[in-house]
Amino acid sequence: MIKLSFEKANEVKNIFECESKVKGHLKDLLDGKIDMTGWVKHPINYDKEEVGRIKEVAEEIKSNAEVLVSIGIGGSYLGAKAAIDYLSGYHGMKRKGVEVIFAGNGLSEKYLKETLDYVENKNFYINVISKSGGTLEPAVAFDKFKALCEKKYGKDEAQKRIIATTDKSKGILKEEADREGYRTFVVPDDIGGRYSVLSAVGLLPIAAAGFDIDKLMLGAKNSYDAYTNVDLDANDAMKYAVVRNLYYNNGKDIEVFSTLSPNMQYFAEWLKQLFGESECKGHKGIFPASLNMTADLHSMGQLMQDGKRNMFETFIMIEDDFDSERVRYSDKLFVDDLNDIALRATEKAHNDGGVPVIEIKVEKQNEETLGELFYFFMMSCGLSALILGVNPFNQPGVEEYKKNIKELLK
Ligand code: PA5
Repeated sequence: MIKLSFEKANEVKNIFECESKVKGHLKDLLDGKIDMTGWVKHPINYDKEEVGRIKEVAEEIKSNAEVLVSIGIGGSYLGAKAAIDYLSGYHGMKRKGVEVIFAGNGLSEKYLKETLDYVENKNFYINVISKSGGTLEPAVAFDKFKALCEKKYGKDEAQKRIIATTDKSKGILKEEADREGYRTFVVPDDIGGRYSVLSAVGLLPIAAAGFDIDKLMLGAKNSYDAYTNVDLDANDAMKYAVVRNLYYNNGKDIEVFSTLSPNMQYFAEWLKQLFGESECKGHKGIFPASLNMTADLHSMGQLMQDGKRNMFETFIMIEDDFDSERVRYSDKLFVDDLNDIALRATEKAHNDGGVPVIEIKVEKQNEETLGELFYFFMMSCGLSALILGVNPFNQPGVEEYKKNIKELLK
């Protein structure tokens, strides 16, 4: 299970002062008193029949293709990208399924063209993912990949190779999927984009890459059991939410998520969306940033040590990550021991320099711990935003930008 620790600095001495407030927020989440909180009980009441179908389709993709093109943006891609990077080992060496390529997550013409060229001579399937069904970036990419798929395989075969993940009944993508006869998976009504990684949005690409989605859901269920406990002393997701707010109230309005494994950079990107879109509203909120250690010590270390004292740092760590032969640095030390020493040195330097440090640790880098981490952070993010007094489950700022783009396109 996840281990949380933090320095008992002055700012966080009074963690139990807001116990009744945070308990109330957790009860509201559990009682479904707030809109868009389907993710809270999702690990225990997700649609098992749909997950069965996801596994079947993933097996079909693995048998018939080398590449899955996953088209989506924001919450419709970051969770799957974070998961596949976290689980694939380096250079994809632990991936047991197809290569998953992400498209529709921006408007770079060059990226789109070169990605189309990259898959053109490969055997591919497409999973187009959009909850609303009308977001510009994935719509543009889907149009091009659909055309390539139909040209390469013909309309009938393309119909089998295109799978849409979208709303169960409405939206342009749902209409198109029904018209064209594509298979569809559902983004549940009461789960917003950045809370959707454990639905079909994340599960199909993760399963197609060859990972065990049952274990992922088991990890999420472990976290559900642990972090729905209303006793603050026993609930680390609640404690983390409270500690972040205590730092914020003391002028620390930037949280730096530091990871030690290069393949966790996209996990940090997922965190940035989760916290940024959930919490930063009404001119309030903690700006989420990220660093990857030790590389970024050599670019951002100066700022962390000696820049403006308005940050706290959350290290996300894997304790024991070796299932293969170790690489020695010396008779006594492995290379990861150096990573650990660098971490201790950095934490001490940052703490001493006025940047409080929080540690969040899991034992291994696998599907189960990933499910635990996803749920832990969704729960702490929801609680943290509620403590701050904002609605964690809407995104008026994103809608505003989408509206402006539509206006300009006219
Ligand atoms: O979290 C969110 O709601 C957003 O980031 C969305 O995931 C993102 O804008 C993509 O939206 P959609 O899935 O509707 O295309």
